[in-house]
Amino acid sequence: TDRYCVFGNPINHSKSPLIHEEFAQQTQQPITYTAELAPVDGFAQAWQHFVAIGGRGANVTVPFKGDAFALCDTLSHRAKRAQAVNTLIVGGNGRTYGDTTDGVGLVRDLGYHRVPIKDKRVLVVGAGGAVRGVLEPLLVEQPRELVVVNRTADKAAQLVRDFADLGNLKGGGFDAVEGQFDLVINGTSASLSGDLPPLPDKLFTQHAWAYDMMYGAEPTVFLQWAGPRGAKLLDGLGMLVEQAAESFFLWRNVRPETAAVRSQLRQSLN
Ligand code: ATR
Repeated sequence: TDRYCVFGNPINHSKSPLIHEEFAQQTQQPITYTAELAPVDGFAQAWQHFVAIGGRGANVTVPFKGDAFALCDTLSHRAKRAQAVNTLIVGGNGRTYGDTTDGVGLVRDLGYHRVPIKDKRVLVVGAGGAVRGVLEPLLVEQPRELVVVNRTADKAAQLVRDFADLGNLKGGGFDAVEGQFDLVINGTSASLSGDLPPLPDKLFTQHAWAYDMMYGAEPTVFLQWAGPRGAKLLDGLGMLVEQAAESFFLWRNVRPETAAVRSQLRQSLN
């Protein structure tokens, strides 16, 4: 039996053990997957200890994605761009390989729901770590234009500088929102405090989608705002499941199906 885990702080509400146990059953992979609390200033030691007791890989969540990035011996290209690691893998001769599956998780979830990206106008709200992690996989899908806006305009401008070589990327403060969008992705943590980013009323094209990278038992304030304005709604639960599936694939070279665990998780929220 190979050992995996998710590191975070806090970690007790993590859905990852449930998801990976379901994947393991479905694909008949002999693994265990636990939730591990690491001290805020002791992530590297927690990882080394886990490897020493036979750990083969781990997921990494808040607040350790930067610490995980820093300790890797080898990084994927997308992890370098994202400056974050959510998936650790023990490679040959004990070296640590790091990747990030968050962005692929978002794009796969959009694909699962048949949300088109290619040639579409896409707005991403927010410019923190969560958004940095999804820009490359989104741009690879070749939207006609991707606009990234943020309360702190400088951070959006920095993302534009860092990713503009990958596609048609623009952005700045909230005043950089112009015209209508086919897909609007909320990547801010504003909904945690019940806040709504200041967005114009006529934001959505016909057949547009609103996506919140957060999720909960109730729709987020952003989705509650977007629904009456004509958008079809998706929250971040599918992204969570798809990033997990991608990590599982990196570890086991088997791709699990996500439909069953999606509905299982949705039920567990109520
Ligand atoms: P994460 O890793 O989740 O992205 P982060 O790096 O702290 O966390 O980024 C949080 C994001 O949510 C930022 O884009 C932040 O805007 P600022 O860069 O201006 O701080 C955004 N955010 C948080 N609270 C917000 C609020 N009440 N209104 C608008 N944006 C908010």
